[in-house]
Amino acid sequence: MSRVYLDHNATTPVAPEVLDELLPYLRDEFGNASSTHWWGQRARAAVERARERVAELLGADPAEIVFTSGGTEAANQVLRGASEAAGGPGAAVVASAVEHHAVLAPCARLEELGTRVVRVPVDREGVVDVDALAGTLGERTALVAVMLANNEVGTIQPVDRVVEAARARGVPVFTDAVQAVGRIPVDVRALGVDFLSLSGHKLYGPKGVGALYVRRGTRVAPLLRGGEHEGGRRAGTSNVPGIVGLGRACELARARLDGDAARLRALRDRLEAGIRARLPDARVHGHPSLRLPNTLSVGFPGVEGESLLMNLDLLGFAVSTGSACNAGSLRPSHVLLAMGRTPEEAHAAVRFSLGRGNTEAEIDRAIGAVAEAVTKLRASIAS
Ligand SMILES: Cc1ncc(COP(=O)(O)O)c(C=O)c1O
Repeated sequence: MSRVYLDHNATTPVAPEVLDELLPYLRDEFGNASSTHWWGQRARAAVERARERVAELLGADPAEIVFTSGGTEAANQVLRGASEAAGGPGAAVVASAVEHHAVLAPCARLEELGTRVVRVPVDREGVVDVDALAGTLGERTALVAVMLANNEVGTIQPVDRVVEAARARGVPVFTDAVQAVGRIPVDVRALGVDFLSLSGHKLYGPKGVGALYVRRGTRVAPLLRGGEHEGGRRAGTSNVPGIVGLGRACELARARLDGDAARLRALRDRLEAGIRARLPDARVHGHPSLRLPNTLSVGFPGVEGESLLMNLDLLGFAVSTGSACNAGSLRPSHVLLAMGRTPEEAHAAVRFSLGRGNTEAEIDRAIGAVAEAVTKLRASIAS
């Protein structure tokens, strides 16, 4: 059976160009980027070249890029740092209700430590209510966190408008751009954000490496303390192969962005139209146009998303659901609940996320497989 991978929002394969460029740093170029000698300087030069490439993709200055172990670490660093800086009783952090757990879980921890966390609602298409957000900002607001694109439904947030509202109150803004970078144009100056996170493995780079953009003049406390790596903003020996791979992945993304986005949008729209034609009661979640070009979240009344996922897996198709496994039971996606879906609707949703390797023929096969699996599951429920 030839398998079809339609779960690129979970992770992407490493691009061959990325692998070629990072492999020497797992072999002969093994220097520690902090060492003064020849080996160290070669590693250091490679890290700095990668920093320039990441910065170029974002329209940033290389000095504004801090390498991390990924999106989760970057988000933890910003949230912890901001609330520590604001400190004390009365400090608040504002976040959208549809953030990834990489943001929500550190927010929950801040709450335990006494910071007030305000969760801002979204509409039925997953777009954050900017007026409601503006109304929550106060003297003691330490940070606003609104993701650029949602991982489950793909909705793209009006982050520039969020920044406008926050600026008026002097509040810094963090955007989790893990799903956006490499998929849609991302320019930190146009957005105006103070902090932005990205992750290597979502853009055909390696796992375990990412970056945090910190706007020039903005302070961020290190999360990991130790040596003076990354200009004192992130301690720990640099993951040179990972960083080199991330740099190359960013360079590739920059060159391929428009072409990839147009091709993936056409494939995604073909998938959506094909599914709707075969299963007219399909319910699509997310904004119809302000959506990642590769993402389709869809549910079928009466069909559990997890059962559909497993049936599609047996047919050779990899997709995912937004449900989280908790003590053996499935919790419906907080994103879909925040978008006003019922728990049943949320449980029904599956996510298709397309990537560079997918073809029209694969999409057509996927449409057939979805129709087959849904029909089978409905028949088994009815009998
Ligand atoms: C929106 C979003 N933020 C953060 C993360 C976490 O990134 P990482 O896997 O690099 O820690 C993910 C990963 O799924 C994500 O989708």
